[in-house]
Amino acid sequence: MISPVAMKVAVVAALLSAAAVGACVDVGFYDTTCPTAETLIQQVVATAFRNDSGVAPAMIRMHFHDCFVRGCDGSVLIDSTPGSTAEKDAIPNNPSLRFFDVIDRAKAAVEAACPGVVSCADILAFMARDSVVLSGGLGYQVPAGRRDGRVSLEIDALNNLPGPTSNASELVSSFAGKNLTAEDMVVLSGAHTIGVSHCSSFVDRLYNKNTSDGIDPALSKAYAFLLKSICPRGSNQTFPTTTTLMDIITPTRFDNKYYVGLTNNLGLFESDAALLTNATLKAMVDSFVRSEATFRTKFARAMLKMGQIDLLSGTQGEIRRNCRVINPSSFSSSSSSSSGPFVQVAAS
Ligand code: HEM
Ligand SMILES: *[C@@H]1O[C@H](CO)[C@@H](O)[C@H](O)[C@H]1NC(C)=O
Ligand SMILES: *[C@@H]1O[C@H](CO)[C@@H](O)[C@H](O)[C@H]1NC(C)=O
Ligand SMILES: *[C@@H]1O[C@H](CO)[C@@H](O)[C@H](O)[C@H]1NC(C)=O
Ligand SMILES: *[C@@H]1O[C@H](CO)[C@@H](O)[C@H](O)[C@H]1NC(C)=O
Ligand SMILES: *[C@@H]1O[C@H](CO)[C@@H](O)[C@H](O)[C@H]1NC(C)=O
Ligand SMILES: *[C@@H]1O[C@H](CO)[C@@H](O)[C@H](O)[C@H]1NC(C)=O
Repeated sequence: MISPVAMKVAVVAALLSAAAVGACVDVGFYDTTCPTAETLIQQVVATAFRNDSGVAPAMIRMHFHDCFVRGCDGSVLIDSTPGSTAEKDAIPNNPSLRFFDVIDRAKAAVEAACPGVVSCADILAFMARDSVVLSGGLGYQVPAGRRDGRVSLEIDALNNLPGPTSNASELVSSFAGKNLTAEDMVVLSGAHTIGVSHCSSFVDRLYNKNTSDGIDPALSKAYAFLLKSICPRGSNQTFPTTTTLMDIITPTRFDNKYYVGLTNNLGLFESDAALLTNATLKAMVDSFVRSEATFRTKFARAMLKMGQIDLLSGTQGEIRRNCRVINPSSFSSSSSSSSGPFVQVAAS
């Protein structure tokens, strides 16, 4: 019997088969080298999700923040060291990225089954997909074979991630810089249908605008008053751990209600509201309000494109043993290159 999820995966795979062309990643990359990898990873995500459904938005955003900074190379997972502040500790990531421990558990599971084979960048791509499915979105097959980077710098995160005050043209050009279209940007913003935000990402919209009440006119008044009760003036500094839901209609369902809220002035960030300020982008928003099916399919397609930004190829980079730590130099040329007789003997 074919499960509904398997059916959905098959349908999207057919729709998306063109998306992987030109990239050096393949569906089924681990079929011979680590056939249980995707199952093991899915089980870790599902277990964590049952305990806290916030794992799903966390993984989806983590993959986005990985891919936009030095490509999808797992660099967002690397810990800072005394000499160097890593991507994960840059303002757009710390403290908002969460559940790094769940990635560690997935990595531990695949390392136990097939040591040194599955990259952290691929693990994150699989986990993001599994998170979409667990939240009710459409599944898709993830081409794999990404290599892990050996560099992670705070400055790269600051320079490459769009911010919550970005306007429409800034958002379009940020995504264009990653070869993603305006429609990719609008559909990927639909990930804000699940998850939470800290007050600092939108508090200026509640108090600091040049209007009689200080509230951003693009925000619903009722919603602004609700948000003020959660995020008092100054909550930028004093409420660093307070968070609020981003889609107040269906906060944990991967559906099109983000767009429904958006068109009712319930978009949480200026960058969300910005999608209504340009007629072309607004038409895309409206199409996703009208058709959830269109949103679901286009979201999967855009995730596949995002997952192929600036990939390391061949023997570039490495298969990181611990997602938080660059391999010691003795491992640096990795499993697939001939880095000495010792490795060749062990591999044969
Ligand atoms: C279009 C430009 C985007 C901007 C400016 C933006 C900005 C933000 C901000 C400021 C937060 C809240 C962080 C916090 O304060 O806690 C957030 C959360 C989130 N974003 Fe975006 N985002 C964008 C696009 C995306 C994309 C492309 C994805 C994924 C495909 C995504 C997925 C998420 C998710 C799932 C959350 C919730 C995270 C959680 O609950 O842990 N965003 N975003
Ligand atoms: C369950 O979720 C809570 C809240 O996120 C977290 O503190 C706890 O460590 C999680 N437990 C497990 C076993 O993952
Ligand atoms: C968007 O931001 C850019 C750069 O900050 C600015 O030059 C432009 O005028 C802004 N566009 C609008 C419509 O506000
Ligand atoms: C975008 O496409 C161009 C032309 O194909 C390519 O040279 C460039 O590396 C791509 N950039 C990214 C971020 O994928
Ligand atoms: C605030 O709005 C007033 C009235 O519209 C305008 O005269 C003033 O220049 C604005 N100030 C700023 C900083 O934009
Ligand atoms: C909130 O914090 C951000 C980042 O530190 C800063 O850019 C912004 O001006 C602050 N806003 C307020 C209202 O303090
Ligand atoms: C709206 O966005 C589209 C897509 O990026 C762009 O081509 C168009 O110039 C923008 N329109 C306006 C009025 O800014």
